Amino acid sequence: MKKDLIRKDRKKEHIEYSLKSTYESDTLFKDIYIEHNSLPDLNLYEINGGTSFLGKNIKYPIMINAMTGGTKFSQEINRNLSKIAKNYGIPMAVGSQTIALRDKESYNSFKIVRETVGEKAVVIANLSAQASLEDVKFSMDLIDADAIQLHLNPAQELVMKEGDRDFKGVLKNIGKIVSNIEEPVIVKEVGFGISKDVAQRLYDIGIRYIDISGKGGTNFIEIENRRDDEIDFSDIYSWGIPTALSLIHCRSISEDLNIISSGGIRTSLDILKSLVVGANVVGIGGQILKELIEGGYEVANSYMEGLIYKLKILMLLTGSKNIEELKKLPYKIKGELKDLI
Ligand code: FNR
Repeated sequence: MKKDLIRKDRKKEHIEYSLKSTYESDTLFKDIYIEHNSLPDLNLYEINGGTSFLGKNIKYPIMINAMTGGTKFSQEINRNLSKIAKNYGIPMAVGSQTIALRDKESYNSFKIVRETVGEKAVVIANLSAQASLEDVKFSMDLIDADAIQLHLNPAQELVMKEGDRDFKGVLKNIGKIVSNIEEPVIVKEVGFGISKDVAQRLYDIGIRYIDISGKGGTNFIEIENRRDDEIDFSDIYSWGIPTALSLIHCRSISEDLNIISSGGIRTSLDILKSLVVGANVVGIGGQILKELIEGGYEVANSYMEGLIYKLKILMLLTGSKNIEELKKLPYKIKGELKDLI
């Protein structure tokens, strides 16, 4: 019981401190160059952002990433975020459902997402990669999920005072889950990036979806550090693989690896660059949460509307009328990103 209370408080603190974060890190998308096309033979109103994802059609290759659930406060957040997902026909993942494994009162905070978006939309469940097969099935059933995200967050756990310290057997556990459920399994980071080696090990056990969640946005070393002043971790805030680097490395593994580019995605240019470099879908977390909490539903909704409108403009300015054409565009890598590849 006490553990559940700590978990609920922690969830609220994560939101609070994610908004207060001050450390600025870089996705390195600035080092990706895409050429302007001043003679596009296109009409803006015919630009099509549609694609398929997890067996369903989505209107734009953008998703609202896993953030919250469990309390009344997070139910309200999930209600608003899922209204935005519905407005634009995009997927949404719920935050970790660990709390729902023990606390029935938390169910509605997760179920609200499926109820709001309807059965045709993509909704994704979320648990730790250490979860049992039974817990995965339960979490997916609760929200009639199209897929499960299993999060890898060793950096966060190690900085969290009450966090896990033992990460043995995680790959084996993911292997057990992926070979025992029919629905897709997405393995995700939470802001420190997935390396080529990790992506290859996941691919080798059957994972075909990864969410790279690289460095450049939400920083859980900073968030956890702000929750506890026993040890100061501010000198390791820069840890992690920048999102653009993680994306390029993971993309080189196989064409049939579906990649969600996330971690520090804030602008339409970040989305465009992610797609050109090879992401299938682009995930947004901290920035839309900030728009929602600081500005309210209308502001967060306008933010998404603006992202989509400007993505279409940028697609036109590259001469691409759809996502397939966008993916074929050449790009150049410069600066720090080039040195790291
Ligand atoms: C998260 N994230 C997250 N991820 C996950 O798999 N399960 C979770 O429960 C949470 N919870 C959570 C809470 C809050 C407040 C934030 C801001 C984020 C991580 C999230 O899905 C994403 O991977 C990272 O935040 C990186 O993306 P952004 O925030 O930089 O766009």
